[in-house]
Amino acid sequence: MKDFVTMQGLEEREMLALVQYANLISQKGVEPFANQTFAANLFFEPSTRTKMSFVVAQRRLGMEVLDFATDHSSITKGESIYDTARTFESIGANLIVIRHQQRNIAKQLAEQLQIPVINAGDGTGEHPTQSLLDLVTIYQEFEQFRGLKVVIAGDIKHSRVARSNAAALTTLGCDVFLTGMEEWHDNSLNLPYISMEEAVETADVLMLLRIQRERHQDQVTLDQDSYLQKYGLSVERERKMKKHAIILHPAPVNRGVEMDSRLVECDRSRIFKQMENGVAARMAIIKNILNQGGNYNEKNFNQRQAFIG
Ligand code: CP
Repeated sequence: MKDFVTMQGLEEREMLALVQYANLISQKGVEPFANQTFAANLFFEPSTRTKMSFVVAQRRLGMEVLDFATDHSSITKGESIYDTARTFESIGANLIVIRHQQRNIAKQLAEQLQIPVINAGDGTGEHPTQSLLDLVTIYQEFEQFRGLKVVIAGDIKHSRVARSNAAALTTLGCDVFLTGMEEWHDNSLNLPYISMEEAVETADVLMLLRIQRERHQDQVTLDQDSYLQKYGLSVERERKMKKHAIILHPAPVNRGVEMDSRLVECDRSRIFKQMENGVAARMAIIKNILNQGGNYNEKNFNQRQAFIG
């Protein structure tokens, strides 16, 4: 694996190995890189969790972080994204992490650059590192994926998290369902829609999504209270969930809209655990890409396990 830009096309065993590697790092840590290594984090869209957990992951791995602020860069003089990324490659960056509003931009750059590219969110496209940290959080709870019932709930149409997780969870053998208001359905995902009432009773994992207002072409008028009552996770609905079921949300959470504010840190919520796992997940991806030189497989994973353990 040279790059990490999508969850599509990864095989089940590759995903599982990556999840287990990230889980191991979360428990035991991992050796930092021996040589000087530079990471360029190109964030063209706002971010708190993804950007900062990449920085923590990179520093824990002993990397030098080349931070980049769009409004203080030559982007303001009209430089293209390709030329910007190519500049970082030229000056010695070993890795590019990119978040951008343009779908597929990470994939395009990955094809154009020699150095690895990690997709930190491309418009409504994909958010594969978020997906990996979600998978790690689910794995820590259930220790396997096959047969788990996962419901992805909310603004499916505009969500890159939904797209990456739909692909990953299906590959891993979960039964994946979708729920949300009809205007935000995405039938290209080819997954069944159920009602929110059915969702809370069905789910082992209820994965709520943020309403992506910044990506809405047609502004749907939303009354927050009525959205919560119709489509969100109210306290009444949470009480109907299975005893062992957990709640995920990529955050930031619109408290009182996607879920009742009182549920954000309830017993079954793993929202802050997800953020914690984000660091190990990103360390696993970076280690994998830079250590393996584009050759990721179970044998290498087992060798690494021996090394870490
Ligand atoms: N979950 C997520 O991507 O959060 P940020 O936008 O804060 O990075």
